[in-house]
Amino acid sequence: MNNLHHENGQFGKEPWWKDATFYQVYPASFKDSNGDGWGDIPGLISKIDYLHELGVDVVWLSPVFESPQADMGYDVSNYQEIYAPYGTVNDVDALVEACHNRGMKLILDLVVNHTSIEHGWFKESRSSKDNPKRDWYIWKPARYDAQGQRIPPTNWRGYFAGPTWTWDEHTQEYYLHLYAPEQPDLNWESEACREAIYDNTMRFWLERGVDGFRIDTVNKYSKRTEYVDAPITDPNSAHQPAPEMWCNGPRIHEFIHEMRNKALAPYGAVSVGELSNTPHPSQVLPYVSAAAQELDMVFEFSMIRLGTGGMFGPKYAYVPYTLQTMKAIVAKWQTFIEGTDGWTTVFCENHDNGRAVSRFGDDSTPELWRASAKTLALWQITMTGSLFLYQGQEIGMKNMPATWGIDEYKDVESISFYNEAAASGEPKKIAQTMEGLRILARDHSRIPFQWDDSPNAGFTDEGVKTWMRVHDAYKDINATKQVKDPNSILSFYKRALRLRKTYKDLFVFGSFRLLEAEDEAIFAYVKEVPREVLDSQLQTNGNIYQKRPPKKRMAVVILNFSSSKRDCLDVRSVLGCGGEDEAKLLVGTRYNEIHGNVEGSILRNGAVAPSLEPWEGRVYVNF
Ligand code: GLC
Ligand code: CA
Repeated sequence: MNNLHHENGQFGKEPWWKDATFYQVYPASFKDSNGDGWGDIPGLISKIDYLHELGVDVVWLSPVFESPQADMGYDVSNYQEIYAPYGTVNDVDALVEACHNRGMKLILDLVVNHTSIEHGWFKESRSSKDNPKRDWYIWKPARYDAQGQRIPPTNWRGYFAGPTWTWDEHTQEYYLHLYAPEQPDLNWESEACREAIYDNTMRFWLERGVDGFRIDTVNKYSKRTEYVDAPITDPNSAHQPAPEMWCNGPRIHEFIHEMRNKALAPYGAVSVGELSNTPHPSQVLPYVSAAAQELDMVFEFSMIRLGTGGMFGPKYAYVPYTLQTMKAIVAKWQTFIEGTDGWTTVFCENHDNGRAVSRFGDDSTPELWRASAKTLALWQITMTGSLFLYQGQEIGMKNMPATWGIDEYKDVESISFYNEAAASGEPKKIAQTMEGLRILARDHSRIPFQWDDSPNAGFTDEGVKTWMRVHDAYKDINATKQVKDPNSILSFYKRALRLRKTYKDLFVFGSFRLLEAEDEAIFAYVKEVPREVLDSQLQTNGNIYQKRPPKKRMAVVILNFSSSKRDCLDVRSVLGCGGEDEAKLLVGTRYNEIHGNVEGSILRNGAVAPSLEPWEGRVYVNF
């Protein structure tokens, strides 16, 4: 017990997933093995070594189940079969094996708020009002307005514009769908339905050896059961935002606790839930407190939603934000678990958002692109929680070019919002929506991965028509080029991810304190080893900090989030260095590019840290 570097988390007592690096694969766009322009599981298997070398511990695979692809597989028609273009169940078995052979793990995407309309359960449910599965979905009679016109049971607006209800001619009732009409919501109030979910989807895959799930829309299983109109907040629309009707409903904690007990805990499976519309720590903690036995961790979206005009109608009306706002959000969600038994996640990309380097960094020139992508990397790897990367983030993949028109956008949400704007006939609204889509659309993260500089970027063979267009910049931005370049974004990620592990007590488990909260250029914070960890280390010998007494071990992270040169903070005073105490540069994004700013260099008494280049990031430590 005298070594900090335990395989099994911190000091052997933390679960393995806390210091794990997760990597999300969007399978349609990762690697195509058979030349049909659509990524597949054999393609992913052929790239497992690439992920292993990057430092990935867990692959999160977005949905690959049988699906009519109304929402890229988030509409499942059979949980036990694989969508043929992705491969077969045997291919998933081979993927599990490929991960496990390398000491990695695999989690799947569990989409059980809704199914596809093509799922057998829904076909049965809609077949008649007295079918035993009728109540596995949410059916309600029509209402009629003063003119006798049929109208939906409530006035709710769905996520993809339009109402949350679709009329079924056959049984003369409406069914509920928070997303597309092709994605009817399951009725978690039905115990038989819940049991089927646990057995048919979760146990089936856990029995085959997968290690857990990313759980889609996890806080929408329990709806308010009154089914009443939402207040009118968008007078120009027939459909009103109503998340309070279906998020964090009255039985949500009961359902999730049951799901864990019945289907996750028996397998020791890890769970990370997608927790939208839940922006208060007091609402989030009950989901992630260890004692509550619900979810291991969740994705909270305040940061990644920055710039959106809101969740519903105005989502793509882009709203600029300040660095001060962003920092306050990060600080809030970094610190909310301190002193609790909860856990959190770190991420700045996923398949539902634009690329981080284009949104939070600066992709306007090659120099700023590279510098900002590395600084975003340093930001992510120094934050507390389980780290999630999204495919292509590690090579600084950026948003689709601004010159691409709406025809290159394939996502159901982008198209729905664009059509809604187009239907308004207002040129200003159309232009505004298009502008928002250029920054925020879900499409940007879904274009083919740029593997090399061959035609189609090595995603698939030359001459093949890819399902989404390959980025024009693939000759400059691709993995092969960056593997060879020690100064590339990819090489930086590799080093940074290893550093995160070496100093996990600071970076993964440390406390977070924001500095210079109002500065509009510098994002700086202190990471500190929590007291209880120090105490437990005092009893161990030969740890990596032997040279200095293990007290008040600190790192200060200083990131220039601007495109101009800035003064550095007074590093020594932030770290509390008095007299001859030293501050050491542990890592910097430009360490070997700039004279006099070499990793391991020391700031002694009186020494001042050199000023920061545009988008430069550094970490100094007091040990
Ligand atoms: C989640 C997914 C998103 C999908 C939606 C409906 O938000 O991340 O891609 O459209 O759920 O399943
Ligand atoms: Ca393929």
